Amino acid sequence: MKHDAAGRAAQLRAQIAHHNRLYYELDRPQISDADYDALMDELRAIEREHPQLLTPESPTQRVGGAPSGKFAKVRHSVPMLSLANGFTAEDVAAFIERVRRFLKLDAAEPLELTAEPKIDGLSLSLRYERGVLVSGATRGDGTEGEDVTANVQRVKDIPAKMHGRAAPEVCEIRGEVYMTRSAFLKLNEEQSAAGRTVFANPRNSAAGSLRQLDPQVTASRPLRFLAYAWGEMSEMPAASQWDMLNWLKQRGFPTNPLSRLCHSPGELLAFHQEIELGRARLDYDIDGVVYKVNRLDWQRRLGFVGRDPRWALAHKFPAQKATTVVNAIELQVGRTGALTPVAKLAPVTVGGVVVSNATLHNEDYIRELDVRIGDTVTVQRAGDVIPQVLGIVPQRRPRHSQPFEFPKTCPCPLGTPVVRELTAAGREGAVSRCSGELACPFQRVEHLRHYVSRRAFDIEGLGEERITLLFDRGWIAEPADIFTLGRRNPAIQLEQQEGFGELSVRNLFAAIEARRSIPLERFIYSLGIRHVGETTARSLARGYGTFPAFREACRRLAGEDAEARQELDAMDQIGDAVIDSLSAYFSESHNAGMVDRLAAQVRILEAQRPAAESAIAGKTIVFTGRLERMTRDEAKALAERLGAAVSGSVSKRTSLVVAGAEAGSKLKKARELGVQVLEEDAFLELVRESPLEGK
Ligand code: IVH
Repeated sequence: MKHDAAGRAAQLRAQIAHHNRLYYELDRPQISDADYDALMDELRAIEREHPQLLTPESPTQRVGGAPSGKFAKVRHSVPMLSLANGFTAEDVAAFIERVRRFLKLDAAEPLELTAEPKIDGLSLSLRYERGVLVSGATRGDGTEGEDVTANVQRVKDIPAKMHGRAAPEVCEIRGEVYMTRSAFLKLNEEQSAAGRTVFANPRNSAAGSLRQLDPQVTASRPLRFLAYAWGEMSEMPAASQWDMLNWLKQRGFPTNPLSRLCHSPGELLAFHQEIELGRARLDYDIDGVVYKVNRLDWQRRLGFVGRDPRWALAHKFPAQKATTVVNAIELQVGRTGALTPVAKLAPVTVGGVVVSNATLHNEDYIRELDVRIGDTVTVQRAGDVIPQVLGIVPQRRPRHSQPFEFPKTCPCPLGTPVVRELTAAGREGAVSRCSGELACPFQRVEHLRHYVSRRAFDIEGLGEERITLLFDRGWIAEPADIFTLGRRNPAIQLEQQEGFGELSVRNLFAAIEARRSIPLERFIYSLGIRHVGETTARSLARGYGTFPAFREACRRLAGEDAEARQELDAMDQIGDAVIDSLSAYFSESHNAGMVDRLAAQVRILEAQRPAAESAIAGKTIVFTGRLERMTRDEAKALAERLGAAVSGSVSKRTSLVVAGAEAGSKLKKARELGVQVLEEDAFLELVRESPLEGK
């Protein structure tokens, strides 16, 4: 028996080590938290029964993965610990009972607990000395984490200086770095369009974004932070968890507004239920609710068991995952021709929603998991939005199944070859693409959907279904056709189509007419040219001012005019990838023709051009330190009005740094790079000379 236990413990430790590495170091978990917890629970049970098997190296005695080696290591002066999990009302009752027994509270003694949503991100410790942020570290294994100071300084939610006067000598603020679901989806779209790796869920996306060797990359990622705990404190500003949360808020740290002070187990459970019901409507992932004994003196008395505080419990939500069978694997074609493999599943309920499709991300993902048609797989609703296949159940694999062969041709009627593009670094990218471009009807429909989408032409009442119908009937083949639809309708009689009534047709034509005027930047964005997102489109619009000027530049670019290339290169935010992409796009005569036909149908409004005479037109400016004569927002607006671009970080491309009081690292960097530095007054002097401001 004992021998078996030892064998099983070794097996479990190996599995846990494997999953720890996937989760903490590679940001790529393959099993759900609930499955992971089950492995840990089994190991803990074995160790309880056979204490001689317990070693300090056992994963039950440590937290998470070791630091990954990319970053310098930091020792946490107070270890970063974990939380015990509970799943049922009984678990919660047992927790409360344990606390009461430990503290010897009699039944009449009230016991308050805070209840805080458990955000699914990664925990972070921020060290402030006399109120100034001096370092940031990930949890790592709990004792030693990674030094991510340069990166946390780029996270907007994290104050560089604590608010308020008389900050304590030392304060370690702890909390969760996370990404909202909407930001995660948007980031993945951008990643995919650029041929870079996509993230499996917001948590991985946050972890991957924080642990970037280049802090500039972190800066460009929409990371958020919520504070809920602390480490070393030279003095304690409050005596309860609840007051500490309020103090954190006063000091400028975001805290979760949903947290609540509860006075009974019933209140805890009601809160848990309330949060679980509202979970899908939150824009961030949570996986449970954390209960903490409110009084800090009691927390101190309760102390820890192993790695978990005795004064807290993570009341988890039931896992949002299930197993089902893969009936088929289909390819979905995106606007840029990117092919996303989708598993067609035997419908299964996951967290209350019927799921029959789940993403398999890309070819490599399928190969790594070795997902085959006929396999039983675990699926999870990551962040309650996109269900994904987490892994297979090997025991349930049908005999004679074959590895999935990623199709060599696009599923569209043309069957054009699928290619895997090279990344900028010359390596094979993760994304497979249909090479058919606009000849591929699937891509055309996606393109049309993009044209009418919210940030482009924003035509109300023209969703996916209608676009597909209009395209399939041959009434809309390209964007210009949208604007001639009304004129052609007497022959078409859209009112007769299913899903269209007289009123909805009238509304649709009104919505189309309302968009016949469009700002240049939206027009450019609507074209859906690769690498030309909203920001780039805005730069192009500002740079050229009018559609004819933009169009002419693109014509010259397509004709390999070196001057046109240079002109673009000098523009803010425009680099080689954009230039190559514009050039490739406009070299195709059908693209150019389509743009011209669309332009003929609409009125493209001129972009507000910066005054070329302004002293700072075309420059990239960084404001740093405390400005005395204007707010940051004012400064930014002023600079932009005068044709400059404002950036948050100093690089070789920065033309000017405006340094206010107590400017720190950015000023230092500017000096190192030899970037021009002006004080606030000198900057105002400089722009006052420019004709625009004088007016
Ligand atoms: S308190 C010693 N509060 O959950 C107590 N943790 O499973 C340490 N988490 O490592 C944690 N929301 O990353 C605490 N309101 C919250 C939390 C929270 C999310 C995470 C945190 C922690 C993990 C433990």
